[in-house]
Amino acid sequence: MKIAVLKETRSGETRVAATPETVRKFIGLGASVTVQTGAGEAARFADADYKEAGADISPSAADAAQGAELVVKVLAPSSEELRVIGRGATLVGILAPYGDPDQLGAYARLGVDAMAMDFMPRITRAQSMDVLSSQSNLAGYKSVIDASAYYGRALPMMMTAAGTIAAAKVFVMGAGVAGLQAIATARRLGAIVSATDVRFAAKEQVESLGATFVTVDEEAMKEAETAGGYAKEMSEDFQKRQAEFVSEHIKKQDIVITTALIPGRSAPKLVSADMVQSMRAGSVIVDLAVEAGGNVELSRAGEAIETGGVTILGFNNVPGRLAADASGLYARNVFNFVSAFYDKDKNAFVADPEDDIIKGVALTRGGAIVHPAFEEAAPAEEPAPEESPAAEAPTDETSNDGASETPDAPSPLKE
Ligand code: NAI
Repeated sequence: MKIAVLKETRSGETRVAATPETVRKFIGLGASVTVQTGAGEAARFADADYKEAGADISPSAADAAQGAELVVKVLAPSSEELRVIGRGATLVGILAPYGDPDQLGAYARLGVDAMAMDFMPRITRAQSMDVLSSQSNLAGYKSVIDASAYYGRALPMMMTAAGTIAAAKVFVMGAGVAGLQAIATARRLGAIVSATDVRFAAKEQVESLGATFVTVDEEAMKEAETAGGYAKEMSEDFQKRQAEFVSEHIKKQDIVITTALIPGRSAPKLVSADMVQSMRAGSVIVDLAVEAGGNVELSRAGEAIETGGVTILGFNNVPGRLAADASGLYARNVFNFVSAFYDKDKNAFVADPEDDIIKGVALTRGGAIVHPAFEEAAPAEEPAPEESPAAEAPTDETSNDGASETPDAPSPLKE
């Protein structure tokens, strides 16, 4: 079985889907691996490291993908990349199909069996393949590091001969994987941390990390979790009371980190412009949900801005700001997934359609859309147009660069 590792082409994507460590492991299984030259460069993995691990290095994506049964990527391929993947090949990546459902039609037309790692079911057997967890964990950590870099004060309380510095107050909104890691990181740095979430289960997890859990309505929270462990959209009444409560709490905070997401919907707006203005100058807000529409009214995707003395960080692809570790964990998630379905005798990736993991991640198979969430999407028969829908995937990291400036508009900051 030949595995191809392609270089990511989307603007701002620094990660790579295989590392020298996982290349070695794939070869140990009996596969051969071809890496497109420079694929690991932005994550600090050189061609020579892959070569030493046993990979062949190819000069182009087309060359690397030639004859490959399995193509591993970080993000969904562009239309150009998709064209180099052979009919019948399996594509593995963070395909984000909700962001661009038309891409499924393109996979089906081109006969590519697409597996979305971001659809990995959250079952015990798949924990080591859970890319949302591995990447969110790093994003949560990095959000606190980014906030502290822009905060003109120290985080821990310090008692010095020249007087005492007060500890920073950090408020984390959304206590899932990213939020819990943000809490743990801020606590390690000595901040006084509070957090909120709509799911009742989050309360105990927040408290076990030594932070204070704050909420507007514990009873309503008991109904707020889906069977899969995710948040539901809350009632209008809850949202209104939550906003009133947050506006009082936020005034007293130095750093706010928002991570709230609802799968398949845009992120809930939790921090209004008025709330931002109520914070004291020098405060920092990090909006980790910015790529899903943002939890903060004023945040801008891909930008660090300042408004009324408050800095709002809306960096895209926060895991990619820790490219080596994010790639390391992602590559292991991919290896754990592929090796679980690797048939040694056939030297092939055999995806059993009845397996719960495959049921969760398989988008297309044999030219048809098979994922239950998209089965009624585009027919597979249409000829592939020159401008494949995959070309319009909304993943351009710099899409907001041209945002117009108004006199009231927050001013961009340099990183
Ligand atoms: P997520 O990334 O979908 O959302 C982040 C957080 O935002 C969640 O905790 C959610 O409850 C919260 N949120 C949504 N709307 C909110 C609002 N209006 N106000 C405040 N907070 C709001 O969630 P993530 O991080 O993917 O975790 C979801 C669940 O999955 C958690 O219970 C987590 O412990 C669980 N999980 C289970 C795993 C497994 O069993 N293998 C692996 C990883 C996570």
